Amino acid sequence: MEKREQLYAGKAKSIFKTDDPDHLIMLFRNDTSAFDGKRIEQLDRKGMVNNKFNAFIMGKLQAAGIPTHFVKLLSDTEVLVKTMEMIPVECVVRNLAAGSLVRRLGVQEGLELNPPTFELFLKNDALGDPMVNESHVQSFGWATPEQLARMKELTFKINDILKALFAEGNMLLVDFKVEFGLHKGEVILGDEFSPDGCRLWDKDTREKLDKDRFRQNLGNVVESYEMVGQRLGLTF
Ligand code: TMP
Ligand code: ASP
Repeated sequence: MEKREQLYAGKAKSIFKTDDPDHLIMLFRNDTSAFDGKRIEQLDRKGMVNNKFNAFIMGKLQAAGIPTHFVKLLSDTEVLVKTMEMIPVECVVRNLAAGSLVRRLGVQEGLELNPPTFELFLKNDALGDPMVNESHVQSFGWATPEQLARMKELTFKINDILKALFAEGNMLLVDFKVEFGLHKGEVILGDEFSPDGCRLWDKDTREKLDKDRFRQNLGNVVESYEMVGQRLGLTF
């Protein structure tokens, strides 16, 4: 597989073409972004840690029947993925209240949400990733009703799989964001799953182990990501 020109650079990852139109290379950079890109810093080793963490999680999800764009690891910071057409909507499931839900509804952080909530956000940094609803998805043509139903079904399945996985490492999956796209007409999981896009707390102490460490200046960001991986049996 030959790496060709850069197709796109996001806040933390870059995408490159390959000599095969069905496959792309995704590069995890050390850039760490918060508040819709208003704050970006380089954190040593983060690209490598997130690449390996994402490969591990994608493997678990695939084994449990979730279709994903993941193909194989290529290097410490690069992964081969299937080419897809991204659906510009982020799917968020919450098991416990935190982050924007706490700010929006004035509820206590850590409040148990039963059943878990499902929320949609438009991928648009300039607008601050506004929350949207299922009707907006239809009216603006971001996804068909069938595609949206599949995205929702897959997001809840991912929640069940990963809640159980993180529980084995004595962690609570508080919330997470996933993105989907279309590959040969099928809805598949894209982007990444890493501590950059979810909230994880220690089950006993409720210590924050995810990107809130960066957002809230709690320190030891990458060290904490590595510890999360190690609790799942990963080595970096
Ligand atoms: P929020 O509390 O800021 O709405 O975020 C909910 C979860 O989704 C949290 O784990 C962070 C993740 N998330 C992203 O990774 N990127 C985003 O653009 C958004 C809106 C949320
Ligand atoms: N959306 C991601 C976050 O909230 C990254 C960013 O906002 O820049 O952490």
